[in-house]
Amino acid sequence: MIVGVPKEIKIEENRVAVTPTGVAAFVARGHKVLIEKNAGNGSGLTDRAYERAGATLVDSAKEVWQQADLIMKVKEPQPSEFPLLREGLILLTYLHLAASESVTRVLLDKKVTGIGYETIQLDDGSLPLLAPMSEIAGRLSIQVGAWCLQAENGGRGILLEGASGVRPGKVVIIGAGISGAAACHVAVGIGADVSIVDINPTKLRYVHDIVGGHVTTLMSNRANIEEEVAGADLVIGCVLIPGAKAPKLISRNLTKRMKPGSALVDICIDQGGCAETSRPTTHRQPIYVEEEVVHYCVTNMPAIVPNTSTYALTNSTLSYGLMLANRGFSQALARNQALAKGLNTFGGKVTHEGVATAFNLPLSPVEEVIRP
Ligand SMILES: NC(=O)c1ccc[n+]([C@@H]2O[C@H](COP(=O)([O-])OP(=O)(O)OC[C@H]3O[C@@H](n4cnc5c(N)ncnc54)[C@H](O)[C@@H]3O)[C@@H](O)[C@H]2O)c1
Repeated sequence: MIVGVPKEIKIEENRVAVTPTGVAAFVARGHKVLIEKNAGNGSGLTDRAYERAGATLVDSAKEVWQQADLIMKVKEPQPSEFPLLREGLILLTYLHLAASESVTRVLLDKKVTGIGYETIQLDDGSLPLLAPMSEIAGRLSIQVGAWCLQAENGGRGILLEGASGVRPGKVVIIGAGISGAAACHVAVGIGADVSIVDINPTKLRYVHDIVGGHVTTLMSNRANIEEEVAGADLVIGCVLIPGAKAPKLISRNLTKRMKPGSALVDICIDQGGCAETSRPTTHRQPIYVEEEVVHYCVTNMPAIVPNTSTYALTNSTLSYGLMLANRGFSQALARNQALAKGLNTFGGKVTHEGVATAFNLPLSPVEEVIRP
């Protein structure tokens, strides 16, 4: 198979989908890997390193998209990449389709085989290709949240750690999954006053245990969310219903009740965000102030630590890319349930329930489209 890796073009996205080690793994199995020149620069991976691993370097993204059978990327196709999509192309990347009707429509119109990293799901319900980036986004959320709280950014001028004789800041985390637990770990570590809510008591028990009880865990319901959010200095949104839009748990009215200059880092913005006032931002302009609350809603947070993120991502994605290249699309999906769950679009049809529900489109079961 010809595997193509274009340079990422989303604003300030410096990650790359395959490392030189990954290239070597594809080449060892007889595949050809096309890498767009300079694709790894942002992550500190040179063209020379890719060449040594056996990649073929090409000058333009167009050549990569035109020649490859399988494209491995980091982010969903950007509008300037839409014309490069074509029927039968296998696209393996973060798609987040439920949050983007335009990307969904173009994948359907062009009959692209779209597999979303974020919807590949193991039998226990976990999302192995979302987890590494969620961990990084969760850790980063406290760092960027602390920055939002600085006076020059419109924040309350609060140091989350507090000071001798001065209270620490109050951090409220909504969702105790991978990103929520990672945020909690860092927030507790710096000495903030932390509470975390989830609908799943097992997740809350786990978080309580890993931070040695230095956190208040609460069931997620309207009353608890209202009370916690209204009293917070920093709120972190970490909820996920796999493949579906994030539930709007923080209404505009609740945001209005937050303290002036408090901050909201809505990590789940890539699935639409959990606050009514959240809208996507970029690393170039990561924050805006609405209802006197500083909002940070960057959809690709790990991109600001590209070196760590590229390695963490490719550690997890490579085996799925290899599976597709080695067995071919139908065999790979027929033999691997987790990968089959990752299929979002095929032949102009939606194959993921969350995406079908988000846009009221008919659902075609994966089993029907993957007859080997
Ligand atoms: N912005 C970014 O750069 C970035 C990076 C990585 C991940 N993400 C996103 O972060 C989100 C969370 O990812 P994750 O891996 O932590 O997910 P996860 O599945 O590990 O955790 C989600 C948690 O939300 C909980 N939840 C669901 N509904 C809830 C509700 N009504 N109230 C409270 N909790 C509820 C679930 O029980 C679960 O524990 C996803 O949307 C993911 O795509 C964003």
